[in-house]
Amino acid sequence: MAPVVLVPTMGALHQGHLDLVREARRLAGDSGQVAVSIFVNPLQFGPGEDLDRYPRTLESDVAGCREAGADLVFAPSNSQIYHPDRSIQIIEQALSKVLCGTSRPGHFDGVCTVVAKLFNLVQPDAAVFGKKDFQQLAIIRRMVRDLDIPVSLHGMETVREADGLAMSSRNRYLTPEERAQAPALRAALEKALAAWHMGITAATRLRDLVAEHLATHAPLGRVDYLGLVDASSLEAKAVLPANQHHLIAIAVFFGGARLIDNIELVPK
Ligand code: PAF
Repeated sequence: MAPVVLVPTMGALHQGHLDLVREARRLAGDSGQVAVSIFVNPLQFGPGEDLDRYPRTLESDVAGCREAGADLVFAPSNSQIYHPDRSIQIIEQALSKVLCGTSRPGHFDGVCTVVAKLFNLVQPDAAVFGKKDFQQLAIIRRMVRDLDIPVSLHGMETVREADGLAMSSRNRYLTPEERAQAPALRAALEKALAAWHMGITAATRLRDLVAEHLATHAPLGRVDYLGLVDASSLEAKAVLPANQHHLIAIAVFFGGARLIDNIELVPK
């Protein structure tokens, strides 16, 4: 049967999103259908976060989706997604308690709830998500497993600017000075990866390497968290053995913009 492949987004699409759409096109083949959802989900924004100023660029998003091979853009309004008296939502109780979940309580419950709703509305066979939001993908995988949702999930590598900065709709909030320093996130993570490959497995040493690099090269940044965790359970590790799969994840504030990035430590 020709598959339906969904790319859930909040719009303000950049090349990273459009690569997800291209991947969805590849998975769907000529006979399948590619749907992109564009919905700025209020449920995943906390008080004081950027819900109101989150960029809304529907016209250019639709043009980009068309060029990247989408067959359909689903851009519902708030009231089409949420009933005013809604009283049910999904709550994740483990993977969402660390990393981004610590500073954004309730965020991943909002993500799970809307993604489950999008899956029910579009009924895709598969969905494509970016690995920049590694924790989000891990939580959605867990939701699909725990709730027996018949959607196969595909994670795609993070798409980066030429200087290594992960593409994000929030990069547009950066001042020129902050933008110049933001690639330090990636460079710091790569430094830790290189050290791990050279045999440094103590989390404190790897953490220090990242922190020192950021202090020197991104003094305008304020680290929100720096996590060294198991890549599937997301549990913090004191030692990162060379034969296991880990993740170093980071969030850094530049002014009001909170940037995230991560790097996988994969055994050779
Ligand atoms: O990654 C995003 O853009 C959002 O969290 C998602 C998955 C579209 C849910 O609103």
